Amino acid sequence: MKTTVLSFLIDRRWVSGEDLGSALNISRSAVWKQIEELRRKGYKITSIPGVGYHLEKMPDCLYPEEVMLGLDTKYLGQEIVHFFEVGSTQDEARRLAEKGAIEGVTVIAETQLSGRGRVGRSWNSPSGSGIYISIILRPNLKPNEALQIPIVAGVAVACAISEVVSVEPKIKWPNDIILGSKKVGGILAEMSAEIDKVNYIILGIGMNVNTTKESFPEEIKSIATSLSEECNRKVERVQLVQQLLRELEALYEEFKLVGFTPARKRWKKLNNTIGQRVKVGGTEAIVGNAIDIDKDGALIVKDDEGNRKRVVAGDVFLRTVEHG
Ligand code: BTN
Repeated sequence: MKTTVLSFLIDRRWVSGEDLGSALNISRSAVWKQIEELRRKGYKITSIPGVGYHLEKMPDCLYPEEVMLGLDTKYLGQEIVHFFEVGSTQDEARRLAEKGAIEGVTVIAETQLSGRGRVGRSWNSPSGSGIYISIILRPNLKPNEALQIPIVAGVAVACAISEVVSVEPKIKWPNDIILGSKKVGGILAEMSAEIDKVNYIILGIGMNVNTTKESFPEEIKSIATSLSEECNRKVERVQLVQQLLRELEALYEEFKLVGFTPARKRWKKLNNTIGQRVKVGGTEAIVGNAIDIDKDGALIVKDDEGNRKRVVAGDVFLRTVEHG
């Protein structure tokens, strides 16, 4: 219902209460209630008696009705739960998954109070300038194959960014989204599994979209960037979320249909890690040359003794551009 009122307002310069009422088959006072509800959410709508309604300004919010407007996916993002503020969208999505939410249900927040990153880090989640999204997936996979999903997702994020913003991000293994030499986005996949079967995966994606350089916390200023900083303009978050859901669904469908090979090929085209001298992990760090990712998405590093090491988790430091 709200989608329809909103889509009318977006499509036409002016729309009368009467036209809206008959298109939606509701009374004019019900139309007025819908308009008031949109106004409460921050949509600036002018009304002139005898003429109708005109949408002047949209709020910069990832409201479900806006994200879903014209979203041509089959199931990703077709049910969206939106929060202004949340601990972590991962936790909200997990709660929904535990209650039986279907594949594709998506949680979006404007800000997170305790956003999580990979390897126990936190994820800086300032209000309204980023994308913080968690998607419930229920792939038919064995737990050891689950690493493939964030690789697929990394490709989707990079493709969505280049489509919407016209910059060409690189992916640092496994799925840090990099512009120049700084991180603009990341992916955290958390799973619930039996010994031989994945129950569900909560795919969490974070992107720094309109964050200003100055507003990054001191400790990540030198390693983080945002899309607006890189392209010198404000980026439409709604458009980017929509494109992300489209790209992700297409790649995930391909993955479910034919397996990991095509995603692996795409990842290899977009990555900045293979062919580099790297250091992976903490205390038991492996130093060597990254030579490939294998059929599961693990990074293959050839150390200085010539041994092939298979890395399934951890942070990669590129020795050419980073200190580690
Ligand atoms: C990384 O460390 O690179 C992964 C970052 C993942 C952040 C996203 S934001 C949405 C979702 N909710 C979280 O708490 N984390 C993920």
